[in-house]
Amino acid sequence: MSAAPFPDIARFDALDKVCGRTEYAGDVPLPGLLHAMTVPATIAKGTLTSIDVRTALAVPGVVRVLTPQDTPMPQGGANSAAPPMLQNAIAYRGQPVALVVAETLEAAIEGAEAVRAVFAAEAFTVSFDRPGSPREDAKAPTFGDADAAFSAAATTIDQTYVTTANHHNPMELLSTTAVWSGGRLTIYEGTQNAARIKFDVAHLMQIDPANVDVVSPQVGGGFGQKGEVQRQTAIVAQAARLTGRPVKLVMPRNQVFHNTRFRPHVKHHVRLGADASGRLVSAHYDTLQQNSRRGRYPADWYHAGSSKVYGIANYRGTSGDLRLDTQGPSQMRAPFEHPAAFAFESAIDELAHALGRDPVALRLANDTRIDHSTGKRFTKRLLNECLTRGAQRFGWSRRQPAPGSMKDADGNAVGWGVAAGVYQAAMHPAIATLRIGANGSTHYASAGHEMGQGMRTAIAQVLIAGLRIDPSRLTIVVGDTRAAPQHGTAGQWGTASSVPVAAAAAQRMVAAFDELLAGRDVPGNMHAQLARIRRPFLEVQVTMAAPGQGPEHVERLKTGGFAVAGLHGTYPEFTALSHIAHFVEVRIETFTGRIRVPRIVSVADCGRVVSPRTARSQVQGGVVWALGAALRETSEVDARYGGWLNADLAEYLVPVNADIGEIDVSFIDEPDFEANAAGVKGIGEISMVGAAAAIANAIFHATGRRLRTLPMRLEQLL
Ligand code: MOS
Repeated sequence: MSAAPFPDIARFDALDKVCGRTEYAGDVPLPGLLHAMTVPATIAKGTLTSIDVRTALAVPGVVRVLTPQDTPMPQGGANSAAPPMLQNAIAYRGQPVALVVAETLEAAIEGAEAVRAVFAAEAFTVSFDRPGSPREDAKAPTFGDADAAFSAAATTIDQTYVTTANHHNPMELLSTTAVWSGGRLTIYEGTQNAARIKFDVAHLMQIDPANVDVVSPQVGGGFGQKGEVQRQTAIVAQAARLTGRPVKLVMPRNQVFHNTRFRPHVKHHVRLGADASGRLVSAHYDTLQQNSRRGRYPADWYHAGSSKVYGIANYRGTSGDLRLDTQGPSQMRAPFEHPAAFAFESAIDELAHALGRDPVALRLANDTRIDHSTGKRFTKRLLNECLTRGAQRFGWSRRQPAPGSMKDADGNAVGWGVAAGVYQAAMHPAIATLRIGANGSTHYASAGHEMGQGMRTAIAQVLIAGLRIDPSRLTIVVGDTRAAPQHGTAGQWGTASSVPVAAAAAQRMVAAFDELLAGRDVPGNMHAQLARIRRPFLEVQVTMAAPGQGPEHVERLKTGGFAVAGLHGTYPEFTALSHIAHFVEVRIETFTGRIRVPRIVSVADCGRVVSPRTARSQVQGGVVWALGAALRETSEVDARYGGWLNADLAEYLVPVNADIGEIDVSFIDEPDFEANAAGVKGIGEISMVGAAAAIANAIFHATGRRLRTLPMRLEQLL
C-alpha cells in the first residue's frame, strides 16, 4: 500500500443520511410486526413474588404478556448484574419483569401499565459513599520500587480525584426486532457486536448459532453502550418465538438509563514523585470503581494509559470494585482512560505547579522509548510531536505561568491548560469478500460495524484507491453475520482491523485481473473489462490476522470468540499506542462564575489517517464528549429508591452547540507499519483521553482553584 496521504472525501453514507434514507434497526418494515413494551421492577432489590397479567391481557390489541416463567434461563448466565432474560430475582431498580406484546405501540404501553407486579423488597445500597458496601480487590500492574522512589523524591503530589457515573445518550435508543421464520431467528439491532448477539442469544435460547442471523448495518451511536447482547435482546427474541410473529421493542430513554451499561463512579488516589530535575521517578495510582454485585468490568484497565504515558520506572497500582445494587457498569468512550487521565493528568499539572515547571515542558522531559510496564520498546511514539505541534498551534508561548494572571478584554479570568493521552493500537483478524461485477457493481463484505464513526468511508477509501471501479455502485456490508464472520467493534480497533484487510482484498483482486487477462490489453475500468471478456463477475476472499496472530485467532473469529491483538498496546515484540495532546482555553465569567471554553486545540497521532473527514469528526466528537464529562454530565443515583434520578435528556445535561467554541484538530499522520500493514492506529477513543484534565488544568490556571471532582460546575468555584 502506498503511503501517499488519502484525499478528503465525503462520508460514504452522507447523502443517504441527510436525505433520511439511512435505515436503522428500529426502522425495518416487517409484515405482521408486533410492538412490545417492558414492565420495569419498582424495587431496587428483592424478589418478584407474583404477577397479575389479566388486566393487561384485556387491553384491546394486547397479544401476549411474557413473565419470568416464559423465559427460562440455561445454565451459565451472562456477566451482568442480572442475566438478560426475565427473572424473579431483582438486582436493580428498572430491571424488566415482563414484556407486553401488542398489535400497536399504544396497546403495548397501556398493557405494560396494567401489569400488576408484587415484590418482596430487600435492603440495598446504590450510593458510592455510603459505608459498608463490599469491596473486592482486582489485579493491577506494579513494577520497579515505587515506595522507595517516592520516599527519595524531591517533590511529591498526593491527591484524590473523583469521576462520577455517566450514561450514554445516543440519538438511537436501544431497540431489538426479532423474526422467527422456518426455524431461523433473525435479529435486527443497533449493535457494535453482531457476533456476540448471535452466539449469546443462541445460548440463551438453546438453539444452534448456525440458525441465528444478526443484522446491524447502521448504529446510531455506539461507544460501548452496544458492545454486547443488550438487556432486552433475548427477551424480544423469545417473544417472537412464542407469538410466531416479528416483534419490535424500542426501549424508552428513561428505561435505558436503568438497563444500559454506563460509566461507573470512580475514586482515584494518585501519588507522584519527581527528582529535583523534574524527572518522574515514582507513581502510585489506586482506583476504586463502582460495580454491580456480580458484574465483571476489568478495574485494572485504569492503569492501561497511566502506566505508559510517561517514562516512569517505578509504579504501584491497585484496583478495586465497590459492589452496589445497580445494573453493571461497562464501556463508555475511552472507558478507563478518560477518567484515569482526568486524575493522572490533573496530578501531573499539580506536580508541574509544585516544581515551578511549565506543564508542556515537564511532559516533554518525561518521554520514553521503553514501555516500563512490560519492558518492551514502543513502535513510533509521537506524543512529544503532538505536544510540540499543539503548543505551537495554540500559541502556548504567550502563556503567563502564574495562576490568575491572564484576563480577557472584559476582565474575565482566562486560563490555559494542557493534558496528554495514550490509547492502545489494537486489531482483530478479519475475512473479507470482494466481488466486482460486469454490470458495474462492486460488493464488499467484512467484519466491522458502522457506528457513524466512518467505517464504510475508511473502507471505501482503500477500495477506490486500489481498484478501477465505479464508486457510485460500491456496496459495503458490515455488521451482518450473514455476509462475513463478525467481531465486536470497540477499543478503537475498527479502522486498524477493517482497512488492512480491505487493502489486501483490493491487491488480490488486481492480481486476479492480471491472471484473468493474461497480458491481453482490454480497455475500460474493471467492470468494462469483465463485460468485454464475458465474465459476469470476479470474486476474491482474503483473511488477515494481526501481528503475532495465527490460524487459531481466525478460527476464534469464525466461532464468535474474542480475537483482539494489542490490548493495552501489547504485541509480542513491542507496544503500539495512539497519542494525543489537548490545549484548552477557559474563561471564567467574573460575576457568574460561569465556565466557558472558547477554544481547544487537539493534535493526534493515530498512525496513518485513512479518512481525513471522519477522523477529524471523531476528534471533535471526543472533545465535545470530554467537555460534557468535564462540565455537565453526571448520573444521579436515587439513594431512597435505587436506580437513577435524572433519567432523561432534560435533566442529564449534555453540551449544546452554544457550549462549544472553536475546536482545532490536526494529525501527525505518520504511518506505523509495525502496528499493521496499513500503518493505521486508532482514533475513536484517544480523541477523548486527557481533554477533561486539560479543562481542569485551565480552570486552575485561570483561578488558582483546583477542582478534583467531575463534573466541574460553577458552584465549585463560588
Ligand atoms: Mo468502545 S468505549 O470500547 O466502544
